Amino acid sequence: MQLPDSIMITEVGPRDGLQNEPEQVPVQEKIDFINQLSACGFPEIEATAFVSPRWVPQLADAGEVLAGIQRVEGVAYSALVPNIEGWERAQDGNVDKISVFTAASETFSKRNTNATIEETLNRFQPVVHAAREAGCPVRAYVSCVVACPFEGKIAPAKVKGVVDHLLDLGVTEIDLGDTIGMATPSDMDALVEVVADRVPPEKLVLHLHDTRGTALACCYRAMQLGVRRFDASCGGLGGCPYAPGATGNLATEDLLFLARGLGIPAGVDASGVLQASAMMERSLDRPLVGRVYRAESCSEEA
Ligand code: HMG
Ligand code: MG
Repeated sequence: MQLPDSIMITEVGPRDGLQNEPEQVPVQEKIDFINQLSACGFPEIEATAFVSPRWVPQLADAGEVLAGIQRVEGVAYSALVPNIEGWERAQDGNVDKISVFTAASETFSKRNTNATIEETLNRFQPVVHAAREAGCPVRAYVSCVVACPFEGKIAPAKVKGVVDHLLDLGVTEIDLGDTIGMATPSDMDALVEVVADRVPPEKLVLHLHDTRGTALACCYRAMQLGVRRFDASCGGLGGCPYAPGATGNLATEDLLFLARGLGIPAGVDASGVLQASAMMERSLDRPLVGRVYRAESCSEEA
């Protein structure tokens, strides 16, 4: 069995993890959280989102957060950008990388960004152009790659169509999002295969939510297929405010536990990640759901 010789994890807790919280997390607590994550060895931390504060008030403080963190060399601090206004704010925030985002479902695209898929792609055109001029890498998320909360099952061919458009626009990286955690391992086979002519598995990024407890099984299958880049969120924080029923991302600690068991280095300090989760658990004042985090917290209490 062929498995990657290492994996790369983008920590998305500060963005995906906090965008859905009912209470506003104070700016300083977000800064402390990102600073703690910065010490863990992640190559990239998705720090925030320059989206409309009306749509996602939880991340209205994006500029303040980026201005307050202590940047560590070797860590790329990235942020979501939906349009040119977001790009301008992101530039002011001095981000290292941006992520545009669309979907393989029309209904989700409308609900999440008030635009059809085609309209989102049109919005991205000047953003990608400006980012490339500025030498800023552009990740492109495609949400609902397996299923949509409004439309149900999504065909891989639909995903492929959106991915091709994004690559034609000139984005640097494709990230496939299982927004509501519906994927099982056979979906990984279908997705990896459908994009393989333009995105080889080792370049593809997977963004799995663990709503039904299948994210880790999907990661394992994806690794067997040659995928080595994953998003995860410490403690399993997260969810999308415009996807009913969406819960947390695959927990970073769970992915690290799997990788360690398989002998695959991720270059991330697992104990530092547990500390970051503990910080957020205190800040949010509720137990985080990540399985490894829970197990470690219980063994500490015992
Ligand atoms: P809209 O309301 O159609 O925007 O929203 P608009 O262009 O008509 O502008 C309306 C107002 O918003 C104007 O202000 C603009 O200035 C302002 P006004 O003149 O009325 O005072 N505005 C902005 N302000 C700040 N920053 C901006 C910005 N843009 C417009 N960038 C828009 C369209 C796309 C902006 C909105 O729908 C939006 O922000 N949506 C984001 C929703 C979101 O963040 N969802 C969660 C992230 S996606 C996700 O979680 C999935 C992912 O994790 C992968 C997966 O799991 O699948 C990535
Ligand atoms: Mg997500």
